[in-house]
Amino acid sequence: MSISIEKNYQLDNLNTFNISAKAKFFYEFNTLKKLEEILNHKLLKTEKSFVLGGGSNILFSKDFNGIVIKNSLGGINITKDNNNHTEVEVGSGEIWHEFVLWSVKKNLSGIENLALIPGSVGASPIQNIGAYGCEAKDTIKKVQFIDLESKSIKELTNSECNFSYRSSIFKKDLKGKCIITKVTFLLNKKPINNTSYGAIASELAALKSQASPQSICNAIINIRSRKLPDPQKIGNSGSFFKNPIISNLKLKKIKEKYPEIINYKQSKTHSKIAAGWLIEMAGWKGYRKDDCGVYDKQALVLVNYGQASGNEIIELSKKIQQSVLEKFDIMIHPEVNII
Ligand code: EPU
Repeated sequence: MSISIEKNYQLDNLNTFNISAKAKFFYEFNTLKKLEEILNHKLLKTEKSFVLGGGSNILFSKDFNGIVIKNSLGGINITKDNNNHTEVEVGSGEIWHEFVLWSVKKNLSGIENLALIPGSVGASPIQNIGAYGCEAKDTIKKVQFIDLESKSIKELTNSECNFSYRSSIFKKDLKGKCIITKVTFLLNKKPINNTSYGAIASELAALKSQASPQSICNAIINIRSRKLPDPQKIGNSGSFFKNPIISNLKLKKIKEKYPEIINYKQSKTHSKIAAGWLIEMAGWKGYRKDDCGVYDKQALVLVNYGQASGNEIIELSKKIQQSVLEKFDIMIHPEVNII
């Protein structure tokens, strides 16, 4: 079978960090048939492979010595509709923000708080994307994927996905074992109007808008644009680190020295700490060396001002980890996948 596989393919425009890297082989699929063709191809038996979505949560540390498989499965289709809900099936290669815009245009509610998150729909269940008081798990009904071992199509319901903060079964037991092909969302006809987080309410007031899926989406676009760098202009992959979760006992001890530490209740026994605050307090906010730096408006975001290499970013991230560990005795872990 002859299918179109490119060689020595430049990945610079396919990762939002804008890191220069090449793939030994590259293949793009936009139908299940094309995906099956590559999965049955002899190259997959000898070469390692990596599935690329929107490229917004990866950092290439070197050229990829294998086959990069780019997911471009499209389609947004309403599959059920009643007075309360609209069920929508979305191809995993669709751009997340385009899907958010589609939903608010239809006055459907549930994902408007996740506007402007870079990446693809297929990535949304993997790391259970979240922002402004909302997570993908709140609206995902089921996830369809190809099991790479049996090459059969399977489905998991919301509860089977084991969602938690920035995690799911796809980051654990199923890591590297499947390719997500379709995500089904249950969106609400009645607006949720979740405006409790951060600056949403004041932004709506500034826009002189009543809460609605569309106005909240607009407010979030404004807030994010002020705080986070546009990957089209400055390479980045959003939050580089996850917010660490520590025991309340440990938090109490740290508070003796740093009473102002920013923390959120996570459970009865644990709290989530704002990593951006830890990094800022460790003195890194606005740091720049050559083309590699820490964004000056949100210290959780590492940036590539132009020609930074993946390794320069990784080195910087390790220095940040070390100094946060020394200052607060808290280890912060990357959210970004390092390839
Ligand atoms: N903060 C600082 N200094 C900083 C950055 C933040 O003091 O440099 C403080 C803020 O003032 C605030 C607190 O830390 O009191 C939290 O900051 P923010 O609201 O910006 O949220 P975050 O916890 O830093 C998370 C997500 C973001 C998401 C925002 C908004 C993670 C790892 N990140 O950031 O997601 O947009 O909440 O909901 O959970 C992403 O994942 O790529 C991403 C951008």
